[in-house]
Amino acid sequence: MDRFIIEGGHRLTGEVAVGGAKNSVLPIMAAALLTDEEVVIRRVPRLRDVASQVKVLQSLGARVLHDEKQGILRIRCDDETPITAPYELMKTMRASICVLGPLLAKRKRARVSMPGGCVIGVRPIDLHLKGMEGLGATLDVRAGYVEASSPRLRGNTLFLGSSAGSTVLGTANVVMAATLAEGETLLENAAQEPEVVDLCHVLAKMGAQIDGIGSHCLRITGVDKLHGVDHAVIPDRIEAGTFAIAAAMTKGDLTVRGCQPRDLLALIERLRAAGCDVATGADWLRVAAPRRLRPIDVTTLPHPGFPTDLQAQLMALLTTADGISMIHERIYPDRFIHVAELHRMGARIRKEGATALVEGVAKLSGAPVMASDLRGSAALVLAGLAAEGETTVDRVYHIDRGYERIDERLRLLGAKIERRAGESQALSMAAGAGG
Ligand code: EPZ
Repeated sequence: MDRFIIEGGHRLTGEVAVGGAKNSVLPIMAAALLTDEEVVIRRVPRLRDVASQVKVLQSLGARVLHDEKQGILRIRCDDETPITAPYELMKTMRASICVLGPLLAKRKRARVSMPGGCVIGVRPIDLHLKGMEGLGATLDVRAGYVEASSPRLRGNTLFLGSSAGSTVLGTANVVMAATLAEGETLLENAAQEPEVVDLCHVLAKMGAQIDGIGSHCLRITGVDKLHGVDHAVIPDRIEAGTFAIAAAMTKGDLTVRGCQPRDLLALIERLRAAGCDVATGADWLRVAAPRRLRPIDVTTLPHPGFPTDLQAQLMALLTTADGISMIHERIYPDRFIHVAELHRMGARIRKEGATALVEGVAKLSGAPVMASDLRGSAALVLAGLAAEGETTVDRVYHIDRGYERIDERLRLLGAKIERRAGESQALSMAAGAGG
């Protein structure tokens, strides 16, 4: 398993460009199952999760051409007989559950393994199932598989919500299923995340009729057929946000290009509250940080609130703010595995249920730490960049699931970070799960 060796204390300066959004690409790839025409996806980041989703689609009869250099995927599903998405592929990534809706809508039957567990907490799929049942599917969960069938899905009025609010992939799944259902579906409490909006735009380009895109209420009128599409996915707001926080953390001055600052308003507002200078244009943002940051409070919420996928990185930042900050995690109450590793670097964090109190220290000190999930790993890398001395981040395959060549790109900005190959790659592949 690869690891990163980081020499802390170097400011990040210059410019970095963000890639396409992982969490847009993965459901859009699943949408290719809704048509037998070619789906072309551009701006595809080179990530492990994309490679895993390619395998899932191939197992479902799709022909996939992946030009990794150009970031282009060409997917065509002319064999529509397979309906099983097997555990061996599904266990590596949560987003693979998005094949359920398209399979059911197009092939009338689906046998989809429950997706892999992830260390950020319990991640049920009850809302996905509730949505499919609401559209008239017959469901059975047996031996770890969801077995679903319906001669033709029927539109309905559905409310999709948990105590944490809306569901991102649940919304994606139900919207995709509803595009080919008979009649009208009214989906209340739909997720408004930019990645859901991106998927809806793709579906609309494929011929789906969706009103209210970007709002909490989607009205989908089923059509008989969807056709091919050529689409460039939106920039990755979480990657952009991670670089922005990295700039703040290293007292740097960084311009993040090719992003959509309007998707990051909650982060920008919090960085300003902490004392950072943040300037924005239509597709860039620039973060310059003062020597000491002010403490802030933050609560993670569904979009447009502060994203849970930036909570760990923000916590790393606040470990060196001037006072006590409070972080309340409303989406995944157990998404705090990074806390123990940050402690190893000298951070002072007290966790009470879904709340963490972060008491800023003068400096973090480098230490050997272990990555255990995607965003938590990013937080550890950021902490290492700012810490005094050397930090080793073990098991960086987690970070490779969601950030393309993060070490190379950080180096270009002035970081001292090196990748060292470790033990068997096979082991690391087997251990990775999440998304
Ligand atoms: C997506 O996961 C993202 N993954 C996650 O990003 C992200 O953290 C999450 O949305 C929240 O923004 C992808 O897009 C691939 P949810 P998803 O359903 O859709 C509860 C990353 O780091 N819930 O919106 O699976 C759930 O437990 C990943 O890139 C149910 O109760 O998340 C949570 O509390 C990690 N029942 C809340 O809803 C359900 O059936 C929101 O989860 C589904 C969800």
